[in-house]
Amino acid sequence: MRDYPFAIESLGPIAGARIGGLDLARPFGKDMMKAVNRAFLDFKVLVFKNQNLTPAEQLVFSQQFGPLEIHVLSQFNHPDYPEIFRLTNRKDDKGNPIGAADGGSYWHSDMSYKEEPAMATILHAKEIPDIRADTEFVDMEAACAALPAILRQKLDGKTAIHAYRSNRQKDKGTSFKLSKEQLEETPPVRHPILRTHPETGKKSIFAFPGIVQEITGMSEIDADSLLKQVFTHCQQPEFQFSLQWEVGDLAMWDNRCLMHRATTRDLPTDAYRMINRTTVSGDRPF
Ligand code: SIN
Repeated sequence: MRDYPFAIESLGPIAGARIGGLDLARPFGKDMMKAVNRAFLDFKVLVFKNQNLTPAEQLVFSQQFGPLEIHVLSQFNHPDYPEIFRLTNRKDDKGNPIGAADGGSYWHSDMSYKEEPAMATILHAKEIPDIRADTEFVDMEAACAALPAILRQKLDGKTAIHAYRSNRQKDKGTSFKLSKEQLEETPPVRHPILRTHPETGKKSIFAFPGIVQEITGMSEIDADSLLKQVFTHCQQPEFQFSLQWEVGDLAMWDNRCLMHRATTRDLPTDAYRMINRTTVSGDRPF
Protein backbone atom coordinates (compact mmCIF):
# COMPACT_ATOMS: atom_id res chain seq x y z
CA MET A 1 0.00 0.00 0.00
CA ARG A 2 1.07 3.57 -0.67
CA ASP A 3 2.29 5.69 2.31
CA TYR A 4 -0.27 8.03 3.89
CA PRO A 5 0.22 10.59 6.67
CA PHE A 6 -2.53 8.86 8.76
CA ALA A 7 -3.43 5.38 10.01
CA ILE A 8 -5.26 3.55 7.23
CA GLU A 9 -6.41 -0.04 6.90
CA SER A 10 -7.97 -1.65 3.86
CA LEU A 11 -11.47 -3.06 4.40
CA GLY A 12 -11.02 -5.84 1.85
CA PRO A 13 -10.25 -6.61 -1.75
CA ILE A 14 -13.16 -4.68 -3.32
CA ALA A 15 -13.06 -1.16 -1.90
CA GLY A 16 -13.02 0.69 1.38
CA ALA A 17 -10.47 1.83 3.93
CA ARG A 18 -10.74 2.67 7.60
CA ILE A 19 -8.90 5.79 8.74
CA GLY A 20 -8.09 6.48 12.38
CA GLY A 21 -6.47 9.26 14.35
CA LEU A 22 -7.88 12.27 12.46
CA ASP A 23 -10.18 14.89 13.94
CA LEU A 24 -12.46 15.99 11.12
CA ALA A 25 -13.70 18.97 13.12
CA ARG A 26 -10.38 20.61 12.20
CA PRO A 27 -9.99 21.60 8.53
CA PHE A 28 -7.32 19.73 6.56
CA GLY A 29 -4.16 21.55 5.54
CA LYS A 30 -3.11 21.45 1.88
CA ASP A 31 -0.92 18.33 2.17
CA MET A 32 -3.48 16.42 4.24
CA MET A 33 -6.19 17.29 1.73
CA LYS A 34 -4.02 15.94 -1.08
CA ALA A 35 -3.41 12.69 0.82
CA VAL A 36 -7.11 12.24 1.67
CA ASN A 37 -8.03 12.83 -1.97
CA ARG A 38 -5.43 10.28 -3.04
CA ALA A 39 -6.86 7.70 -0.58
CA PHE A 40 -10.37 8.53 -1.83
CA LEU A 41 -9.37 7.66 -5.39
CA ASP A 42 -7.46 4.55 -4.28
CA PHE A 43 -10.15 3.06 -2.00
CA LYS A 44 -13.43 4.64 -3.25
CA VAL A 45 -14.96 4.45 0.27
CA LEU A 46 -13.20 6.08 3.24
CA VAL A 47 -14.47 5.47 6.77
CA PHE A 48 -13.16 7.95 9.33
CA LYS A 49 -13.60 6.43 12.78
CA ASN A 50 -14.65 8.06 16.07
CA GLN A 51 -15.94 11.42 14.85
CA ASN A 52 -18.53 13.56 16.58
CA LEU A 53 -19.31 16.41 14.20
CA THR A 54 -22.14 18.87 14.72
CA PRO A 55 -24.21 19.55 11.57
CA ALA A 56 -22.30 22.85 11.11
CA GLU A 57 -18.94 21.02 11.39
CA GLN A 58 -20.08 18.37 8.92
CA LEU A 59 -20.88 21.15 6.44
CA VAL A 60 -17.44 22.72 6.85
CA PHE A 61 -15.75 19.30 6.49
CA SER A 62 -17.81 18.44 3.38
CA GLN A 63 -17.29 21.81 1.67
CA GLN A 64 -13.56 21.11 1.50
CA PHE A 65 -14.40 18.69 -1.34
CA GLY A 66 -16.67 21.01 -3.32
CA PRO A 67 -20.07 22.73 -3.32
CA LEU A 68 -22.90 20.84 -1.62
CA GLU A 69 -26.26 19.76 -2.98
CA ILE A 70 -29.63 20.42 -1.35
CA HIS A 71 -31.77 17.29 -1.64
CA VAL A 72 -35.06 17.61 -3.53
CA LEU A 73 -36.88 15.71 -0.74
CA SER A 74 -36.79 18.91 1.31
CA GLN A 75 -39.09 17.50 4.01
CA PHE A 76 -36.13 15.37 5.16
CA ASN A 77 -33.52 18.13 5.15
CA HIS A 78 -32.24 19.46 8.48
CA PRO A 79 -34.39 22.51 9.37
CA ASP A 80 -31.36 24.73 10.11
CA TYR A 81 -28.87 23.20 7.64
CA PRO A 82 -30.70 22.30 4.41
CA GLU A 83 -27.53 20.77 2.93
CA ILE A 84 -27.88 18.01 5.54
CA PHE A 85 -30.27 15.27 4.46
CA ARG A 86 -31.40 13.09 7.36
CA LEU A 87 -31.52 9.33 6.92
CA THR A 88 -33.48 8.13 9.91
CA ASN A 89 -36.55 6.29 11.12
CA ARG A 90 -36.84 8.70 14.09
CA LYS A 91 -40.00 10.81 14.25
CA ASP A 92 -40.79 14.15 15.87
CA ASP A 93 -43.05 14.44 18.93
CA LYS A 94 -46.12 14.58 16.66
CA GLY A 95 -45.15 11.26 15.07
CA ASN A 96 -43.98 12.78 11.75
CA PRO A 97 -40.82 11.38 10.11
CA ILE A 98 -37.85 13.73 10.45
CA GLY A 99 -35.83 11.91 7.81
CA ALA A 100 -35.99 9.34 5.04
CA ALA A 101 -36.40 6.03 6.90
CA ASP A 102 -35.58 3.76 3.97
CA GLY A 103 -33.94 6.34 1.67
CA GLY A 104 -31.69 4.80 -0.93
CA SER A 105 -32.66 1.19 -0.20
CA TYR A 106 -32.30 0.21 -3.86
CA TRP A 107 -29.18 0.08 -6.05
CA HIS A 108 -28.26 3.57 -7.27
CA SER A 109 -25.56 6.21 -7.43
CA ASP A 110 -26.51 9.43 -5.69
CA MET A 111 -28.33 12.01 -7.79
CA SER A 112 -27.70 10.20 -11.07
CA TYR A 113 -31.13 11.64 -11.94
CA LYS A 114 -29.42 15.05 -12.31
CA GLU A 115 -27.51 16.36 -15.35
CA GLU A 116 -24.52 16.65 -13.02
CA PRO A 117 -24.77 13.75 -10.56
CA ALA A 118 -23.12 13.85 -7.15
CA MET A 119 -19.36 13.36 -6.94
CA ALA A 120 -19.21 12.18 -3.33
CA THR A 121 -21.62 11.30 -0.56
CA ILE A 122 -20.70 11.81 3.08
CA LEU A 123 -22.63 9.99 5.82
CA HIS A 124 -22.05 10.59 9.53
CA ALA A 125 -23.55 7.96 11.85
CA LYS A 126 -25.16 9.39 14.98
CA GLU A 127 -27.29 6.41 16.02
CA ILE A 128 -26.96 2.81 14.81
CA PRO A 129 -29.19 -0.10 15.86
CA ASP A 130 -27.85 -3.35 17.33
CA ILE A 131 -29.02 -5.24 14.27
CA ARG A 132 -27.25 -4.77 10.92
CA ALA A 133 -28.32 -1.75 8.88
CA ASP A 134 -25.38 -1.66 6.47
CA THR A 135 -24.72 0.29 3.32
CA GLU A 136 -23.80 -2.10 0.51
CA PHE A 137 -21.60 -1.13 -2.44
CA VAL A 138 -20.76 -2.49 -5.86
CA ASP A 139 -17.46 -1.49 -7.43
CA MET A 140 -18.74 -0.55 -10.89
CA GLU A 141 -15.20 -0.01 -12.15
CA ALA A 142 -14.23 -3.61 -11.34
CA ALA A 143 -17.54 -4.81 -12.77
CA CYS A 144 -16.85 -2.83 -15.95
CA ALA A 145 -13.34 -4.23 -16.32
CA ALA A 146 -14.75 -7.77 -15.99
CA LEU A 147 -17.62 -7.31 -18.46
CA PRO A 148 -17.77 -10.09 -21.05
CA ALA A 149 -16.59 -8.61 -24.38
CA ILE A 150 -19.95 -9.15 -26.05
CA LEU A 151 -21.80 -7.27 -23.32
CA ARG A 152 -19.28 -4.45 -23.32
CA GLN A 153 -19.63 -4.09 -27.06
CA LYS A 154 -23.41 -3.78 -26.70
CA LEU A 155 -23.04 -1.02 -24.08
CA ASP A 156 -20.30 0.95 -25.78
CA GLY A 157 -21.60 4.33 -26.96
CA LYS A 158 -25.08 3.77 -25.50
CA THR A 159 -26.90 6.18 -23.22
CA ALA A 160 -29.60 5.43 -20.66
CA ILE A 161 -32.41 7.46 -19.12
CA HIS A 162 -32.17 8.03 -15.36
CA ALA A 163 -35.41 8.99 -13.60
CA TYR A 164 -35.96 9.72 -9.91
CA ARG A 165 -39.42 8.49 -9.13
CA SER A 166 -40.60 6.10 -6.50
CA ASN A 167 -43.08 4.24 -8.72
CA ARG A 168 -40.24 2.38 -10.45
CA GLN A 169 -41.38 -0.65 -12.36
CA LYS A 170 -38.17 -2.58 -11.86
CA ASP A 171 -37.65 -1.96 -8.17
CA LYS A 172 -39.86 -1.94 -5.08
CA GLY A 173 -38.84 1.65 -4.41
CA THR A 174 -39.02 3.41 -1.05
CA SER A 175 -41.90 4.18 1.28
CA PHE A 176 -42.21 7.86 0.30
CA LYS A 177 -43.54 9.29 -2.94
CA LEU A 178 -42.23 12.41 -4.65
CA SER A 179 -44.71 15.31 -4.78
CA LYS A 180 -45.77 16.75 -8.14
CA GLU A 181 -43.32 19.67 -7.62
CA GLN A 182 -40.48 17.33 -6.69
CA LEU A 183 -41.13 15.24 -9.81
CA GLU A 184 -41.10 18.43 -11.91
CA GLU A 185 -37.76 19.39 -10.36
CA THR A 186 -36.23 16.06 -11.38
CA PRO A 187 -37.04 15.42 -15.04
CA PRO A 188 -35.43 12.32 -16.59
CA VAL A 189 -31.86 12.80 -17.82
CA ARG A 190 -29.61 10.85 -20.15
CA HIS A 191 -26.11 9.59 -19.29
CA PRO A 192 -23.58 7.34 -21.02
CA ILE A 193 -23.81 3.78 -19.70
CA LEU A 194 -20.03 3.46 -19.69
CA ARG A 195 -18.65 6.47 -17.86
CA THR A 196 -15.04 7.69 -17.64
CA HIS A 197 -13.84 8.75 -14.20
CA PRO A 198 -12.74 12.40 -14.60
CA GLU A 199 -9.75 11.97 -12.26
CA THR A 200 -8.48 8.42 -12.85
CA GLY A 201 -9.58 8.02 -16.48
CA LYS A 202 -10.97 4.55 -15.65
CA LYS A 203 -14.28 3.30 -17.08
CA SER A 204 -17.26 2.35 -14.93
CA ILE A 205 -20.76 1.12 -15.56
CA PHE A 206 -23.12 4.01 -14.82
CA ALA A 207 -26.56 2.36 -14.87
CA PHE A 208 -28.51 1.31 -11.79
CA PRO A 209 -31.51 -0.96 -11.24
CA GLY A 210 -33.42 1.57 -9.10
CA ILE A 211 -33.09 4.52 -11.49
CA VAL A 212 -32.46 3.47 -15.08
CA GLN A 213 -35.56 2.66 -17.07
CA GLU A 214 -34.59 2.87 -20.73
CA ILE A 215 -31.68 2.64 -23.13
CA THR A 216 -31.80 5.28 -25.83
CA GLY A 217 -32.68 3.88 -29.25
CA MET A 218 -33.55 0.38 -27.98
CA SER A 219 -36.93 -1.28 -27.66
CA GLU A 220 -38.11 -1.76 -24.08
CA ILE A 221 -37.86 -5.51 -24.41
CA ASP A 222 -34.25 -5.42 -25.70
CA ALA A 223 -33.22 -2.79 -23.13
CA ASP A 224 -34.77 -4.80 -20.28
CA SER A 225 -32.97 -7.92 -21.33
CA LEU A 226 -29.61 -6.13 -21.72
CA LEU A 227 -29.98 -4.29 -18.39
CA LYS A 228 -30.91 -7.55 -16.65
CA GLN A 229 -27.67 -9.13 -17.87
CA VAL A 230 -25.64 -6.07 -16.83
CA PHE A 231 -27.18 -5.89 -13.34
CA THR A 232 -26.77 -9.64 -12.77
CA HIS A 233 -23.12 -9.25 -13.74
CA CYS A 234 -22.61 -6.25 -11.42
CA GLN A 235 -24.26 -7.90 -8.43
CA GLN A 236 -21.87 -10.83 -8.32
CA PRO A 237 -20.34 -11.17 -4.83
CA GLU A 238 -16.80 -10.46 -6.07
CA PHE A 239 -17.76 -6.84 -6.81
CA GLN A 240 -19.66 -6.23 -3.55
CA PHE A 241 -18.63 -4.72 -0.27
CA SER A 242 -20.75 -4.09 2.83
CA LEU A 243 -20.15 -1.27 5.29
CA GLN A 244 -21.24 -2.20 8.81
CA TRP A 245 -21.79 1.08 10.68
CA GLU A 246 -20.65 2.12 14.12
CA VAL A 247 -21.71 5.33 15.86
CA GLY A 248 -19.15 8.04 15.11
CA ASP A 249 -18.27 6.70 11.65
CA LEU A 250 -18.06 9.26 8.89
CA ALA A 251 -17.96 7.54 5.52
CA MET A 252 -17.34 9.22 2.23
CA TRP A 253 -17.70 7.46 -1.12
CA ASP A 254 -17.14 8.09 -4.80
CA ASN A 255 -20.41 7.99 -6.74
CA ARG A 256 -18.56 8.10 -10.05
CA CYS A 257 -17.44 4.47 -9.82
CA LEU A 258 -19.73 2.80 -7.24
CA MET A 259 -23.38 1.99 -6.80
CA HIS A 260 -24.80 1.48 -3.33
CA ARG A 261 -27.96 0.76 -1.37
CA ALA A 262 -29.11 1.01 2.23
CA THR A 263 -30.41 -2.15 3.90
CA THR A 264 -33.01 -0.27 5.92
CA ARG A 265 -36.20 -1.18 4.13
CA ASP A 266 -37.25 -3.84 6.64
CA LEU A 267 -35.71 -2.36 9.78
CA PRO A 268 -37.95 -2.94 12.86
CA THR A 269 -39.59 0.34 13.90
CA ASP A 270 -37.75 0.38 17.27
CA ALA A 271 -34.32 -0.24 15.72
CA TYR A 272 -33.26 3.39 15.43
CA ARG A 273 -30.77 4.64 12.87
CA MET A 274 -29.83 8.31 12.48
CA ILE A 275 -27.33 9.36 9.84
CA ASN A 276 -26.63 12.87 8.58
CA ARG A 277 -25.79 13.02 4.91
CA THR A 278 -24.07 15.71 2.87
CA THR A 279 -23.64 15.40 -0.89
CA VAL A 280 -20.80 16.96 -2.88
CA SER A 281 -21.70 18.16 -6.40
CA GLY A 282 -20.10 16.54 -9.42
CA ASP A 283 -19.65 16.90 -13.17
CA ARG A 284 -21.65 15.80 -16.16
CA PRO A 285 -20.62 12.18 -16.94
CA PHE A 286 -18.76 11.48 -20.21
C1 SIN B 1 -28.07 6.81 0.59
O1 SIN B 1 -28.24 6.27 -0.48
O2 SIN B 1 -27.64 7.97 0.66
C2 SIN B 1 -28.42 6.10 1.88
C3 SIN B 1 -27.45 5.07 2.28
C4 SIN B 1 -27.74 4.53 3.64
O3 SIN B 1 -28.57 5.07 4.38
O4 SIN B 1 -27.13 3.52 4.01
